[in-house]
Formats: sequence, C-alpha cells, structure tokens
Amino acid sequence: MSNTTGINDGAARILIETRALTKIYDGTSGSPPAVNALNLKIPAGEFTAIMGPSGSGKSTLLYLIAGLAEPTAGEVLIDGVSISSLSDTARARMRNTRIGFVFQRFNLLGFLSARDNIEAPRLMGWKQRGSPRAIDDLLVAVGLEKKRLRKVSELSSGEQQRVAIARALINDPDILLADEPTGNLDSRNAEAVLDLLLKLKDELGLTIVMVTHNLDVALRADRIIQMKDGSVERELMTNELDSSSEWAQRPAGHIRP
Ligand SMILES: Nc1ncnc2c1ncn2[C@@H]1O[C@H](COP(=O)(O)OP(=O)(O)OP(=O)(O)O)[C@@H](O)[C@H]1O
Ligand SMILES: [Mg+2]
Repeated sequence: MSNTTGINDGAARILIETRALTKIYDGTSGSPPAVNALNLKIPAGEFTAIMGPSGSGKSTLLYLIAGLAEPTAGEVLIDGVSISSLSDTARARMRNTRIGFVFQRFNLLGFLSARDNIEAPRLMGWKQRGSPRAIDDLLVAVGLEKKRLRKVSELSSGEQQRVAIARALINDPDILLADEPTGNLDSRNAEAVLDLLLKLKDELGLTIVMVTHNLDVALRADRIIQMKDGSVERELMTNELDSSSEWAQRPAGHIRP
C-alpha cells in the first residue's frame, strides 16, 4: 500500500524531503542512531502525523527538519534545497522565515502576556519575512483575543498551547512543526487545538508535521508515519484506511490512555 518515499510522487510539490537522514548524538557512539537513514517526502499542504514509542526519534526528526540539529549523515531538503548546503546565515533565515516550531514543552515565558509571548521572537530580533502576520490577527485566529493581555501563567494548558501555535506563526511560515501539541491536554482541549491546526492548514495553506501519541489525533491528519528505533516502521494515508485495516483494529500500540 505504501512505502517510505513515494506515495505522492508526481502529485503535489515535495516541500520537505529527507534522504538517508541519520542522527547520532555526540557522546552516544555505540548506541543506536536516534534517527536512522530515514527517507521521507512530504508534499506541500499535507498534514502528517508522526507516531511511535518514546525514544523512537520523533522530536529529533523535527529538530533535524527545522535545522535546529545537525544530521550526522544524510540531508534535509526544503523545497528541493539541501539545508546543509546553506551558510549558517542562510539556514537561520530559512528557519526563521519558513518554519514555525511548537515545542514539546510550551517554552513560553509565564510572566509575559499572551500578546508579548507571541511577539517575543520579533522582539528578540529574529529575521522576518516581508510582512509578518499581525499579532492581533493571530490572537483572533487562535481564539485568544479577549485574553491577549493575560499573563501566560494564568492561562489554561490548552490556551497556552494556542499561544505557542500563534507564536510559531508570527513570521508567516509555510511549514509548521509541532511536537506533541496536544500531549498535555485533556480531550476537549486537545480537540480544540487540533481543530485550530486543521483550520490554519486550510486558511494559511500550511504544511504541518505533528508528533502525537494519540491515534485519534493522528487519524485526523492526511498521513500517519509510525517510527521505531529511528526509522519509519510503516505509514499510511488516512483516507485509505478502512475498518478492516490493521490500524483500525489494532492501533499503533503506543497510544496513551
Ligand atoms: N540531546 C540529546 N543527547 C543525547 N541523546 C539524546 C538527546 N536527545 C535525544 N536523545 C536520544 O535520542 C533518542 C531519540 O530521542 P527523541 O527525543 O527524538 O525521541 P522521541 O521519539 O521524541 O521520544 P518522546 O516520545 O519521549 O518525546 C533517545 O534514545 C534519546 O535518549
Ligand atoms: Mg519527543
């Protein structure tokens, strides 16, 4: 049904590609690679969910795609350009203008307001695209316009996650990488964050790669990639799923209750 490299060959433009991507962390030689010769092609506009047990390399893969970690071998291509071929400055510019990142822990500044957290990347002088998204538009997009001046430490987890998503979009990226954006949320808040991601994907034409442990969340993506020991164990397009499939009957097996 599927393989690691070519489900959509010939269809949409491939926006994110990894070729034999490998990461062995410094000082861990002898341990298995965190990401192991991984090949992936993600078309523009697709919503991909990455699943897999703890330690299988999901966060590392996102960091590599974002250019926040250096591959030990192999490469990441964004729009056909290998990011390791770029100068440090060009890579930083690409990361700051094309990629938004929602971290596994929110990484928000609790003592600042929602609005100031969203503006923080800009205040810290990160490079921007020509017309950064207006903060107030982002607050509306994530449904927090009424709470924009609240300190983040006084917001619920779901609201904090929405601030983190808005912050990731400040420079109008075309790629959003989100590491367990629903991980610490109850099912209602998780649903709200997921609805928000789907809305943003449609409205902004985002290409989204999201790590999740939750199969119900993953099933709303276009594609699910299941990782194991740094490699792709299997993948499927969710629109090809039927109730007789192995996924539907015996889901990934790593789902948190
Ligand atoms: N900074 C680091 N230095 C050394 N080893 C690391 C580092 N970060 C991750 N690892 C190791 O790399 C492997 C993959 O880790 P990674 O964080 O990518 O897993 P994950 O799939 O995101 O796990 P989780 O579901 O728990 O978040 C693990 O064995 C982990 O211990
Ligand atoms: Mg992780």
